[in-house]
Amino acid sequence: MLFSSATILLSALATAVSAVPTPASQPTSHPSTGVNDVGYQWLVTGWSAGCARSGCYYDFNVTGSNYGSDPNIPSFSASCQGSGVGAPFLPCGIVDDGPGNRGVAAHLIAPVNGTGAHIEVSLAWTPVDNVNSYYNYTGNATSSYNQFVAPIQMFTIEPSSAYSTSS
Ligand SMILES: *[C@@H]1O[C@H](CO)[C@@H](O)[C@H](O)[C@H]1NC(C)=O
Ligand SMILES: *[C@@H]1O[C@H](CO)[C@@H](O)[C@H](O)[C@H]1NC(C)=O
Ligand SMILES: *[C@@H]1O[C@H](CO)[C@@H](O)[C@H](O)[C@H]1NC(C)=O
Ligand SMILES: *[C@@H]1O[C@H](CO)[C@@H](O)[C@H](O)[C@H]1NC(C)=O
Repeated sequence: MLFSSATILLSALATAVSAVPTPASQPTSHPSTGVNDVGYQWLVTGWSAGCARSGCYYDFNVTGSNYGSDPNIPSFSASCQGSGVGAPFLPCGIVDDGPGNRGVAAHLIAPVNGTGAHIEVSLAWTPVDNVNSYYNYTGNATSSYNQFVAPIQMFTIEPSSAYSTSS
């Protein structure tokens, strides 16, 4: 008798739990808007990168426009500097005067074809009207270590992955 009422209670709990939104620690849903979408790209300007005995480094600005509605990707303008191929994402400085709910980060990753400067940029934000949600978009592009051989460059990055969480 005790066992069967416990079983009933557990199955009732399981039913209730399955209706609860995804926990914040489990990135599961993949927003499709703005991912691998030619209509949505970030613009990198002032790209400058080089390699020294101490490692490779980068310096650039990156901007994105407001895009989509679900999710509503916020506009941003950020300035990124860092070094080290394969280093963890390093936060960039937001240089616009928009709300403080957005973060941008960048790092150099191993070049796909063994050459070039492969940069990965990420934009994350919490909607101002829903602080329990979090979105994180990431994209990459191959550029060059132009510091000593070429003028500064500009190019675009198309986000190729995204995840969101809510609680
Ligand atoms: C990035 O933009 C700021 C102004 O927002 C400018 O002062 C800075 O020189 C730019 N950096 C590069 C690398 O172009
Ligand atoms: C996006 O998520 C990745 C993986 O969790 C994290 O390393 C990165 O810092 C996040 N981006 C931002 C801008 O916080
Ligand atoms: C890598 O090389 C392949 C074959 O040459 C080419 O199709 C591809 O675009 C290159 N990828 C990058 C990121 O440069
Ligand atoms: C870099 O971006 C391309 C699409 O532009 C994507 O196919 C690839 O998976 C990305 N690389 C990494 C390491 O995320």
